[in-house]
Amino acid sequence: MGIVLGIESSCDETAAALVDSGRTILAQRIASQDDFHRPYGGVVPEIAARAHAERLAPLIEATLADAGMALGEVDAVAATAGPGLIGGVMVGLVTAKALAMASDKPLIAINHLEGHALSPRLADPALQFPYLLLLVSGGHCQLLLVEGVGRYRRLGTTIDDALGEAFDKTAKVLGLGFPGGPAVERLAREGNPRAVPLPRPLLGSAEPHFSFAGLKSAVLRAKQAGIHQDADIAAAFQQAALDCVIDRTRLALSLADAPSALVVAGGVAANQAVRGALEALAGEHGLPFVAPPLALCTDNAAMIAWAGIERLGQSDPLDFMARPRWPLDPDAAPVRGAGVKA
Ligand code: KG4
Ligand code: ZN
Repeated sequence: MGIVLGIESSCDETAAALVDSGRTILAQRIASQDDFHRPYGGVVPEIAARAHAERLAPLIEATLADAGMALGEVDAVAATAGPGLIGGVMVGLVTAKALAMASDKPLIAINHLEGHALSPRLADPALQFPYLLLLVSGGHCQLLLVEGVGRYRRLGTTIDDALGEAFDKTAKVLGLGFPGGPAVERLAREGNPRAVPLPRPLLGSAEPHFSFAGLKSAVLRAKQAGIHQDADIAAAFQQAALDCVIDRTRLALSLADAPSALVVAGGVAANQAVRGALEALAGEHGLPFVAPPLALCTDNAAMIAWAGIERLGQSDPLDFMARPRWPLDPDAAPVRGAGVKA
């Protein structure tokens, strides 16, 4: 039985967790920074980095205490080493390096996206490689064939905004505050998705890529028109986004080589409408649908510790550099507009 200490600090959650190879989360703590960033309507990198620096060490100590463990009892220290906001990533990685050095344990540098990609296996021991993964978060929107640990084939990606970003911007336009995804989902339940006509960018196109910038602009125009109920705009936005997600995922399923399951991960996977539609799509294809519990969907350290468990036996050098950009599939062909923020 191995035990890994995981550390996550790539965006606005400071998190630590202890996970064992039997898939038990022995302890985990998350300090959210929502209150710090709310006045700005989005994550401010400098504020995030400072908050991580102030909070991470006591948070790790408390996590070890929760589990009644000493640092010397863990088998490795795993930390997010990218991609993400560089200041925060450096705080987590430097802390992990210091702990690894002090305890003479291996350091495992984890790609944050790999944390999301493998998190469904923490929750579901039956999930086997390869599986088709829809990874939808605030910064990423990708369709990946997960062939094994460290083996990811990117089938599709967004050419502009990530899905979570589109939810957050819609929330901002509707004055719903930050973070926006859950607020848009709540309001959408009270609206009529057919009351506001909105575009479905790239629907039916030949490769399973995504685009949400045009939808975002259409939401802004709908609000500015001043004739629609906010709930109807929220519902129409969510439905349009959902139609795109299902169309693109259906295409990816037809391109993927014998996936064992359809899996969703990342913060937007917390959305019940998204989950429901994907479950139905998986059913159409006779595939199991796997979604991690909500707490494992948004950023957390248990998924980083679990990725460390999946990589137990490996180690990274103590001079491993933080990587603000770190694609899961470095061989994927660049897509027009990819990485360009609208
Ligand atoms: O994975 P995550 O916690 O952080 C990133 O790595 O980006 O994802 C955060 C994103 C945010 O854009 C947030 O608005 C979105 O996930 N999100 C949701 C919901 N809960 C979180 N979007 C739609 N519906 C939700 N219920
Ligand atoms: Zn994330």
